Amino acid sequence: MSVRESKAVPAGSATLNYQNKTYQIPALAGSEGPNVLDIRKLYGDSGLFTYDPGFTSTASCESNLTFIDGDKGILLYRGYPIDVLAEKSSFLEVCHLFLYGELPNKQQMAEFDHSITFHTMVNEQLVQFFRGFRRDAHPMAVMCGVVGALSAFYHDSTDINDPRQREVASHRLIAKMPTLAAMAYKYSVGQPFVYPSNALGYTENFLRMTFSVPAEEYKINPILAKALDTIFILHADHEQNASTSTVRLAGSSGANPFACIAAGIACLWGPAHGGANEAALKMLEEIGTVDKIPEFIKRAKDPSDNFRLMGFGHRVYKNYDPRAKAMQVQAHAVLEEVGHQNDPLLKVAMELERIALQDEYFVEKKLYPNIDFYSGITLRALGFPVSMFTVLFALARTVGWIAQWKEMLEDPHQKIGRPRQLYTGPKQRDYVDIAKR
Ligand code: SDX
Repeated sequence: MSVRESKAVPAGSATLNYQNKTYQIPALAGSEGPNVLDIRKLYGDSGLFTYDPGFTSTASCESNLTFIDGDKGILLYRGYPIDVLAEKSSFLEVCHLFLYGELPNKQQMAEFDHSITFHTMVNEQLVQFFRGFRRDAHPMAVMCGVVGALSAFYHDSTDINDPRQREVASHRLIAKMPTLAAMAYKYSVGQPFVYPSNALGYTENFLRMTFSVPAEEYKINPILAKALDTIFILHADHEQNASTSTVRLAGSSGANPFACIAAGIACLWGPAHGGANEAALKMLEEIGTVDKIPEFIKRAKDPSDNFRLMGFGHRVYKNYDPRAKAMQVQAHAVLEEVGHQNDPLLKVAMELERIALQDEYFVEKKLYPNIDFYSGITLRALGFPVSMFTVLFALARTVGWIAQWKEMLEDPHQKIGRPRQLYTGPKQRDYVDIAKR
């Protein structure tokens, strides 16, 4: 296993006094962000667990991939600011950055592009998997199934201890997600699957596989293709979010990469996470017109109502989500290009954002639009049905998941993830026969 040495540096220590005993807890510093208290020895030394449901104060790993500063609204991919990558880079170039740590030179880009392009086809047997689903199955249900099923086909890239097999699996997953996502869409609308074309770029290929029909030539709109490519960049990775943590935990048991990514897809589906783009658009449709906004704001603030403004709030961003601003730019570009600049939902979204950002509840709880707030409007304008929104999120996030999975395997401190608990259930008691209960 190629091993990545830790880059954390000692940063003093903390003293814990508890029940007349004193414990020294070493601190570590990274290159950016908060220092950490290294509690790996705490249980052995003190018999104490720490307690942190939701892991709001817990660093689960050391990572070199993505840095977020929630208060300053900063997001860096391998040190590059997200707004710069969104403006200047391409999704495939960002994939290379995540997998290899650097932006590629021309030759490296050509080689990487060739490898991805020549992995875009899927085993023809997989077509039978799609046939097993109802046509009205949610595309995320289909993706959970078919991505996990890749484990049954690509045995020559499931040995996680072989760096070359890890690399091939990474390329296969990045390359095949657009093909499978397009197949999930085609199956849901009853149209024939469209094979990838090696003559097209990554995102153009995906648009053609999704929207072309055998009956006529499909013309790529370069403005829309660029917008979607940028949307993929914005969704590529995001530190230790729920689905990434799921992929890391699954991978820590030695599960193969295809199974781990399927686990990530399942987690991303939740409306509190990647499912929020679908939920946010449905919410905007439910609001319908600007005059209905106040009643929804009222519901969002009512503690007895579990309604939440979908597309608002974030565990880490307590200022603004830099991706949301970039998404808003893409939303306007796409709506302009498709002639929907007067889309009533855009008006509702912008008014909802304006009102929410002035409301003391949202200001006090630091609830700002997140990446999912504008993505739904943009993806709908690109022609995708709502049910495909989270599939697109999964397509883009696959590179982040697989880069995090690879980093986890190369971490010398890595061991199977196995949290403990604070038990408050019954103490040991005797079994009572049913006749006596
Ligand atoms: C993503 O982690 C990531 O990085 C995820 C992601 C990624 O790229 O991987 O960024 C992608 O998942 C973005 C988030 C998409 N989800 C949504 O838009 C769903 C709506 N948002 C909420 O469910 C919520 O904001 C979360 C889940 C995103 C974050 O929740 P937290 O940080 O755990 O905060 P919380 O749920 O404890 O809420 C804090 C307070 C609560 O009020 P109190 O209990 O303090 O009284 O804020 C309130 C919440 O009720 N609140 C909201 C709200 N979000 C939080 N109130 C109304 N509307 C909202 N959207």
